[in-house]
Amino acid sequence: MSDLQTLAEKARSNAYVPYSKFQVGASLETEDGTVFTGANIENASYGLTNCAERTAIFKAMSEGHRKIKKLYVTADTDGPVSPCGACRQVIAEFMDSTGEVILGNLKGETRTVTIATLLPGAFEAGDMNDKQ
Ligand code: THU
Repeated sequence: MSDLQTLAEKARSNAYVPYSKFQVGASLETEDGTVFTGANIENASYGLTNCAERTAIFKAMSEGHRKIKKLYVTADTDGPVSPCGACRQVIAEFMDSTGEVILGNLKGETRTVTIATLLPGAFEAGDMNDKQ
């Protein structure tokens, strides 16, 4: 079991999911090797829910990191968990094609992909025609 798997599974147990009861855990390693974890945090106003991946990513970015090398996501799913579209777009902001996204489940099945596979054609800074 990899460190990131162990950490994501541990983070998953902190999920706040009174509505869906679906716990998700994430862990990531930044460019300099620092590790962050996250769980999904739901809200009575459902749309305000924050997914596990985004929790981990925002924790890392708010501590000054900018590049993710590896991201592990896990949930109790039949096959490796599938990140939602919003998370794919957020991952695309901070991971490049050299990054590994490891999708897992509690059975230990994994699927390792790049963000380009998860979200081909992601909207990026360069898509603003140099207006930024
Ligand atoms: N969820 C995640 O945390 N990550 C995903 O990529 C998929 C969905 C959460 C959001 C919500 O708390 C629950 O799973 C059901 O949608």
